[in-house]
Amino acid sequence: MPQVLAIAARLHPELPERLEVLAEKRRLFPDGCRKLMAGLDMAGYGLAHPWRLNAAPRVDAFLELLPSAPDCLYLHDVAVLSEGRGRGAAGAYVVYLEGLARKLGLGHLALVSVYGTVPLWEKLGFKSVSAGAPPLPSYGPSAAYMAKKL
Ligand SMILES: CC(C)(COP(=O)(O)OP(=O)(O)OC[C@H]1O[C@@H](n2cnc3c(N)ncnc32)[C@H](O)[C@@H]1OP(=O)(O)O)[C@@H](O)C(=O)NCCC(=O)NCCS
Repeated sequence: MPQVLAIAARLHPELPERLEVLAEKRRLFPDGCRKLMAGLDMAGYGLAHPWRLNAAPRVDAFLELLPSAPDCLYLHDVAVLSEGRGRGAAGAYVVYLEGLARKLGLGHLALVSVYGTVPLWEKLGFKSVSAGAPPLPSYGPSAAYMAKKL
């Protein structure tokens, strides 16, 4: 988790989250969390957990509990250091999450796109949600709620 925090601090300086908040996601739902290794070093990570559609936890907030009746797998964050990008790691993580969601009987993946990454997520099959999308005050000005029906 310290390496995850170090990557997050480099790639998300404007959306800082505490180590304990990130670690809580791994504790609550380890199957949704994956690391990308380059030799002995971590080059990226993904964090995801079951959640409710059209809802998004605030940045840097504890989840406390997972919902008792989830209907989506929420991709909280995927981050790949620049030297590891463009090799399909984020795409492979989405494919992994789709398999996991299906296994759990969850019909959607959902996420909040930041930094203008909407075109990337569209390539990976996500669509922007207009009707019913949650307010996203903690995600910065470019935030867009997106979902992928499985
Ligand atoms: C976003 C990020 C995780 C992508 O990681 P990656 O492993 O390089 O992504 P992939 O190689 O799996 O790319 C998936 C597809 O999206 C495309 N893509 C990648 N970055 C893109 C961008 N910024 N805009 C549009 N398309 C993009 C790729 O070309 C690829 O499409 P292809 O399969 O047709 O070639 C990485 O750039 C990153 O860590 N960025 C900073 C943190 C961030 O923005 N996280 C997401 C917040 S919502």
